[in-house]
Amino acid sequence: MTVLGLRDIHRRFESGGQIARAVDGVDLVLSTGEIVGLVGESGCGKTTLSRIAVGLDQPDEGAVWLDDQPLLGSDGSVARSQRRRIQLVFQDAYGSFNPRRTIGDAVAMPLSRHGELQGDGRRQVAALLEQVGLEPELMDRHPHRLSGGQLQRASIARALALDPDILVCDEPVASLDVSVRAQILNLLMDLWRDRGLGILFVSHDLGVVRRIASRVAVMYLGRIVESGDNESIWASPRHPYTRSLAASNPSATGRWRESRDRSLLQGEPPSPFEIPPGCRFHPRCPIVVDRCRTEDPALRVVPPEIEVACHLAE
Ligand SMILES: Nc1ncnc2c1ncn2[C@@H]1O[C@H](COP(=O)(O)OP(=O)(O)O)[C@@H](O)[C@H]1O
Ligand code: SF4
Ligand SMILES: [Mg+2]
Repeated sequence: MTVLGLRDIHRRFESGGQIARAVDGVDLVLSTGEIVGLVGESGCGKTTLSRIAVGLDQPDEGAVWLDDQPLLGSDGSVARSQRRRIQLVFQDAYGSFNPRRTIGDAVAMPLSRHGELQGDGRRQVAALLEQVGLEPELMDRHPHRLSGGQLQRASIARALALDPDILVCDEPVASLDVSVRAQILNLLMDLWRDRGLGILFVSHDLGVVRRIASRVAVMYLGRIVESGDNESIWASPRHPYTRSLAASNPSATGRWRESRDRSLLQGEPPSPFEIPPGCRFHPRCPIVVDRCRTEDPALRVVPPEIEVACHLAE
């Protein structure tokens, strides 16, 4: 079993003399064989965290571990033996392909980088394309000649080329037509089942996460505010932010649907340039109390084994 561990990750960006705390102290563990859903509004730091998880970006503080080894070497680059074990699937499949190179070239690239191309590599590429449900003939086409769904399949084939243990999928279906989303999700589920992959599935779409994740982590303004088993979280969310997400999701059930009006999110998503003091959710929280304005709630475990950062979780 491979375990990816993110430990106290911080990532800040400077812009116009101000600092954005895009990721502000995140711990997350993902093992092969499980799907962890990372949910939260746009701008909460999901992509930044995904890029750090695969070594495409370096944290300002904290570290990423694969089993008992740091992902990044002392020079800040990913060790070759580690690189192959964890791969990223991007939201924007079009943007992730070079328009001047064929699909076959793109899928073969990781193999040639790692010196694993056999001959011209066409047989390897054909096998990879078949695994993701694409006709091998597509390898000679350029990216613009594929549909969005085909291109996302090709990007998954490229991610699988080095036989990784873990896939980080950053909103892999968000830019696809609704009609092909289910197909790509099913493909990811099949790969997860057949290969025993670990998948970090990043999404702002609760419905999707709810359908496929084994565990869920809810992110708000650079922090994880609640995490736990998929069923438990949606059966009884403890954090007011998670309750708002649950209530605003069309497939919300039971009392979360009834309490929809009261729980719907108030106000604009805040900015990582100005994280509120105390509980970072307090300006939007429907049950805020005085203490929330000054005391930052730490993540703590409440029954049944849910981690939550809220003073009033009980
Ligand atoms: N390279 C960058 N330079 C400056 N700010 C950035 C950069 N990347 C992300 N940010 C900021 O960090 C925050 C989190 O962004 P992101 O990780 O893309 O969130 P999400 O994927 O959840 O929408 C946003 O406010 C975004 O503007
Ligand atoms: S700590 Fe206070 S402001 Fe934050 S979510 Fe809990 S009740 Fe709301
Ligand atoms: Mg994003």
